[in-house]
Amino acid sequence: MPGTVLIGAQWGDEGKGKITDLLASEFDYVVRFQGGNNAGHTVIHGDRHLALHLIPSGVMYEDVVPVIGNGCVVDPRVLIDEMDGLEAGGISCERLLVSSHAQMIMPWHIALDGASETLLGDKLIGTTKRGIGPSYESKVARSGLRIGDLLEPDYFRERLEAELVVQNAILEKVYGLPGYDAGEVFDLYMGYAERIGSMICDTVTLVNVALEQGKRVFFEGAQGTLLDIDHGTYPFVTSSTTTAGGAITGTGAGIKHIDRVLGITKAYLTRVGSGPFPTELNDETGEFLGTEGAEFGVTTGRKRRCGWFDGVIIKYTARVNGLTDICLTKLDVLDKLEKIKICVAYDIDGKRVETLPDSLNAFSAAVPVYEEVDGWLESTAACRSFEELPANAQAYVRRIEEIAGVPVSIVAVGPDRDQTIIINPF
Ligand code: GDP
Ligand code: IMO
Ligand code: MG
Repeated sequence: MPGTVLIGAQWGDEGKGKITDLLASEFDYVVRFQGGNNAGHTVIHGDRHLALHLIPSGVMYEDVVPVIGNGCVVDPRVLIDEMDGLEAGGISCERLLVSSHAQMIMPWHIALDGASETLLGDKLIGTTKRGIGPSYESKVARSGLRIGDLLEPDYFRERLEAELVVQNAILEKVYGLPGYDAGEVFDLYMGYAERIGSMICDTVTLVNVALEQGKRVFFEGAQGTLLDIDHGTYPFVTSSTTTAGGAITGTGAGIKHIDRVLGITKAYLTRVGSGPFPTELNDETGEFLGTEGAEFGVTTGRKRRCGWFDGVIIKYTARVNGLTDICLTKLDVLDKLEKIKICVAYDIDGKRVETLPDSLNAFSAAVPVYEEVDGWLESTAACRSFEELPANAQAYVRRIEEIAGVPVSIVAVGPDRDQTIIINPF
């Protein structure tokens, strides 16, 4: 099992941090391949509570090399703060490596993220305002600054000056915001370089050589499939490839090395930010899921929208990611419900639809067709094997497996690393 990819199968916050931390000890490298500090990955083990935004969730293990891949966007200040926080808690970041090709988030990216959301008014995307979208825009426009540029100060300065001609014009003339001084930004980023310079390297060769030598590499996705720039609910998405393909482009790893793709999905569904959500519950059951599941964003603290499990979405994500395994998290959150609903299809203008609608308008019009099942009304938090789960909880897991057409290999019944049931080992 040389290369395993983990992705979010819904709209993010499925428990990717917990599962990455759980499996990381079996791997030599844990690599983030997209996104930036828009992510908030929670890792809990006993008294240890980590909220990671940029640093891979395998950082707790001394034998694991955490890598930030070329597909990520990195705010060096955030990276340094996160390293400081971990080190203050006794977790070493010495082994951390950052791809020289990762794009940098610059101060104007953050300013533009906020300004464009303000301009959108009630049509806003609800971004995390961390500069993610504008940084990826610069990458695709071929004007972005990469982390590796910090190692060549003259080249960095030249590119920075050229980029600020354009960015300052946009800031000042379009948004009426102040521009940036190239000298000041240069000095600031050279200060960052002093701290992180030694971590910057060619991670593409590193990861491929590791795989060729039979080392085990874990690819940790951020966000979720429905936030994917191509395959998500566009335009209410993030700006990167959150699906399994992103693990290849975002690290340069040869596709032949990947043999398992693990999709993380909650036993219900949440979303942060704007956009359609057919199974959303704006009632007391929605409130119950939010309270019981502690559904508040790790990055922005925003309340997450909650709803029933959506089988149409899981079938879609199983396809576009080529899932080989599913991990079902937060099953325990459903413990106190007498009846549980699973969406098995949509009703769109009187027609039954079992695949994800191709247009956002059709998706917005989708009315869920539910199957109702009996709850189990007992705590699952202490269950450590599938057989220990109450019969109705077992049936719920099996039903999701049947809908997805993919085996459920892991079930999580609480936030702690140990509150996990492994059905098919990794
Ligand atoms: P990520 O972004 O996918 O890593 O997920 P987040 O960390 O943003 O959100 C998941 C939240 O659910 C965190 O607070 C986790 O500690 C918590 N969590 C993960 N798995 C479980 C579980 O099985 N049961 C419960 N009750 N909480 C869980
Ligand atoms: P993790 O990795 C949930 C959402 C934002 C917004 C949209 C675009 O913790 O699952 P962006 O700042 O990326 O341009 O915002 O994407 N979003 C997330 N939602 N979990 C995340 O990450 C998210 N990262 C971004 O709320 O709707
Ligand atoms: Mg999260």
